[in-house]
Amino acid sequence: MSNHIIKHNYQVTKSDRNKLNNHNSFLMWFTGLSGSGKSTIANLVELELHKKGIKTYVLDGDNIRKGINKDLTFAPEDRTENIRRIAEIANLMIDAGLVVLAAFVSPYKKDRENVKNIVKNSNFVEVFVNTSVEECERRDVKGLYKKARAGEIKNMTGISAPYEAPDHADVEIKTEEETVEEAVVKILEYLTPKLKLENE
Ligand code: ADX
Repeated sequence: MSNHIIKHNYQVTKSDRNKLNNHNSFLMWFTGLSGSGKSTIANLVELELHKKGIKTYVLDGDNIRKGINKDLTFAPEDRTENIRRIAEIANLMIDAGLVVLAAFVSPYKKDRENVKNIVKNSNFVEVFVNTSVEECERRDVKGLYKKARAGEIKNMTGISAPYEAPDHADVEIKTEEETVEEAVVKILEYLTPKLKLENE
């Protein structure tokens, strides 16, 4: 079937869109346990970028799983499909000229590798929001850890399902040691040079 699909090339390219926006487009991928602080940090990073006139969009696990991915569970193969679809969506958004911030538990290294392959290495920034499971469970903002301990939620990452931490994340945030504000500054410092268009 896919042999019979021929890609159509449009005249307005990613590079044209980036020039119009006056910044590069790429994906910033936040990984970490549920309740680690991914969404909170991504939200504030987006706010700062928005204030600077950067075109952004946030993709977030809880939101995406209510819409396009509402058919998926937390079984390993469904998480893989969840992350694959997000990567394809992010890839389109990069092509559209956006700085995409994606906040997903994404517990499997191979799935995060797949994201990198789909969007290409140079468009991928990995942020590890490193919060221990003990701290996430203590915070338990959504009450999910309590339910997981009671056996009401299966495959809960950190409790009854694995989390494979990145070995070489581009940015690592230890939320038990640094404040959200410090984390945002650190991420923006990393991002800023990447926004700049070449040959200026
Ligand atoms: S992922 O593993 O496939 O990347 P995703 O980021 O989309 O997960 O969704 C995680 C969110 O779903 C968590 O923030 C949490 O609110 C909720 N959730 C519900 N059940 C689970 C579970 N079994 N494991 C992890 N998160 C869960």
